[in-house]
Formats: sequence, structure tokens, C-alpha cells
Amino acid sequence: MDLLNLPASVLCTLVGPPGSGKSTFAAHYPDSWRVCLDVYRRLATDSEADQSATPVAAEIQALLLDARLSRGLTTLVDSTNVFAHVRTSLIARARYWQRPAVAVLFDVPLPTVEAQNAGRDRVVPLHIVREHHQLLPDADQLQREGFTAVHPISELLATPGAPRR
Ligand code: GTP
Ligand code: MG
Repeated sequence: MDLLNLPASVLCTLVGPPGSGKSTFAAHYPDSWRVCLDVYRRLATDSEADQSATPVAAEIQALLLDARLSRGLTTLVDSTNVFAHVRTSLIARARYWQRPAVAVLFDVPLPTVEAQNAGRDRVVPLHIVREHHQLLPDADQLQREGFTAVHPISELLATPGAPRR
């Protein structure tokens, strides 16, 4: 199922705070499309929250990004991506391989994010959720950064007949 009619060979960057629904959204797509720092941190340390493994996780993600983009395979980046420098480097990889780069913006209200975060097994500390929510860019900023298309999840969910994320 393709909720967004993603173009072929696209690099699709999910942008949203912890608990905003990025992995739930990504689960609508084939698992092999997804790159996710949490997964690689867990594979390296048995703990997805162990930030000491972020450098190695980032290396694994970069290798997979290049492997997939070079082959023209659609790729979803399932991390918060709220920091501009992280998005800049993702856009650079897409450009290097001459692939389109789109963003899905999880512009979910803070109270909803807090409730979703609180209601799951892996609860991220509240101050981190709030910090990340504050850093969330808007669609105009993402477009200025170079994303070829930006899909706010609020608009996607407002579409009649849209599935639950
Ligand atoms: P991180 O991996 O921590 O960055 O979070 P995430 O953005 O991947 O959030 P995730 O997809 O894990 O969703 C967090 C919680 O919210 C989960 O328990 C989901 O089941 C729930 N959730 C996600 N999307 C929706 C939604 O549209 N509606 C409702 N009611 N719950 C949702
Ligand atoms: Mg997630």
C-alpha cells in the first residue's frame, strides 16, 4: 500500500518527535524499505536507547542508504530528523544518487504526541519529547531545505478515507 503515491527511487524522510507515529506510518511499507537508527543501536548494544552506539548506527544507516539509493530502491528514513544538519546530509545523499527526496512531516499536536508516547512500551522521557517537538520545522522550511515534496501528516489524515496512521 502506498499512502502517498511515492515516486520511484525516492528517499522519504520522516520528520517528527518521539511518539508522533513515524514507525507506525512506516509499517505500511515493506520492512526492507526502512532504515532506522534505533534498530541499529539495538543490534550493536541490545538497547535502542544506548546513545553511545549512535556513531556506529549512523555508519550502518549511511551504508544502507548508499546501497539502496544507488540501486534506485525506495527508502524510508525512520528517525526523528528534527535537526536541520541531519536532513541536509540526507538530501545530499539523495542528490548524489540523483534521487528525489520527499519529507513526511509529523505535525502532530504536543498533547497527542505526549499521550501516544505515554501509552506505549518504550516511553521516551517527557523533556526529550517536548524538546524535539519544539524543534519541528514547518513545511515551508523543509521545502526551502531542498525536499522536492513535503507531506504534512495532518493533511494526509484529513483526506477522506485515509487509513489510521
Ligand atoms: P519514536 O520511534 O520514539 O521516534 O516514535 P515514533 O514516531 O516512531 O512513534 P510510534 O510510531 O512508535 O507511535 C507511538 C505510539 O503512538 C504507538 O503506541 C502507536 O501505536 C501510537 N500511534 C501512532 N500513530 C497513531 C495514530 O494515528 N492514532 C493513535 N491513536 N495512535 C497512534
Ligand atoms: Mg519509531
